[in-house]
Amino acid sequence: MIKTENLSHLYSEGTPFQTTAIEDINIHIPKGDYVGVIGHTGSGKSTLIAHFNAILKPTSGKIFIDGQDLWSADKKTRIQTRFDVGLVFQYPEHQLFEETVYKDISFGPKNMGLPEYEIHKRVDKALDFVGLDRALLDKSPFDLSGGQKRRVAIAGVMALEPKVLILDEPAAGLDPRGRDEILSRIRDYHRETKSTVLLVSHSMEDVSRNANSILVMNKGRCVMHDSVPAVFERAEDLVGMGLDVPKITRVFISLREKGYPVSPNVYTVEQGKDELMKLLRKGGEAND
Ligand SMILES: Nc1ncnc2c1ncn2[C@@H]1O[C@H](COP(=O)(O)OP(=O)(O)OP(=O)(O)O)[C@@H](O)[C@H]1O
Ligand SMILES: [Mg+2]
Repeated sequence: MIKTENLSHLYSEGTPFQTTAIEDINIHIPKGDYVGVIGHTGSGKSTLIAHFNAILKPTSGKIFIDGQDLWSADKKTRIQTRFDVGLVFQYPEHQLFEETVYKDISFGPKNMGLPEYEIHKRVDKALDFVGLDRALLDKSPFDLSGGQKRRVAIAGVMALEPKVLILDEPAAGLDPRGRDEILSRIRDYHRETKSTVLLVSHSMEDVSRNANSILVMNKGRCVMHDSVPAVFERAEDLVGMGLDVPKITRVFISLREKGYPVSPNVYTVEQGKDELMKLLRKGGEAND
């Protein structure tokens, strides 16, 4: 369970460059939820999630993981949190630093003090998860392509087998097939392990297809946090915030604007089909 209380973060506090990145965030993410985190560039998504594994310290406010106040706990607890809450960084270059791919992926399990055979097993499993060729294991991560670096960064976090998995734009830099593959593996991981998953994404389409709930950041504040259908009830507000809602949602928003009595809460093609069938049964007429 993740909970925040009046969580705020300023960068470069007390300098002319001071920026309020997140402000007064009060959220509660239950165990086992799959949350899509969405918002404009600069809205505070990466800053928010970096607090959940104690990489960033709040300027004010609190974070509780499983009821434990992270920053009044001892250092040991915070180190344990880094293993329990696995965070895949937005930019793989910020995460990769070892001489070889193998060393990078095994870094976490090694630090957890796991025996060698268990480390091997975890690296192997993580490689399968991200679909990375084993021939790359002895290469330097810096010699890889963007998509391969992304996969190594994800594998390094998967090897921790975290209770909470947080991924910041994991599909960026992957081709559409690679993207679908990673998202479907993450879905399987969530289903099979019952762990909590947070997926930061610019794509409302990816979020609505994968998550159970959505957290919307806007200008450093959390402006919505609800189930996927409840957030799409407010699809017009999402568009008002300049967010990129799925194409099918846009179609239904414009049908409503034209007076057709359809739900704004449509984000899959199947739902769209059902709504149109209902409309046709009613005669297919606009209200005015
Ligand atoms: N290291 C930093 N130093 C100073 N300001 C920062 C730093 N990182 C982020 N910011 C600022 O904090 C605010 C929130 O940034 P953040 O990176 O959390 O947003 P984001 O929603 O993740 O954006 P994006 O979608 O582009 O990844 C922005 O105004 C950003 O410029
Ligand atoms: Mg970001």
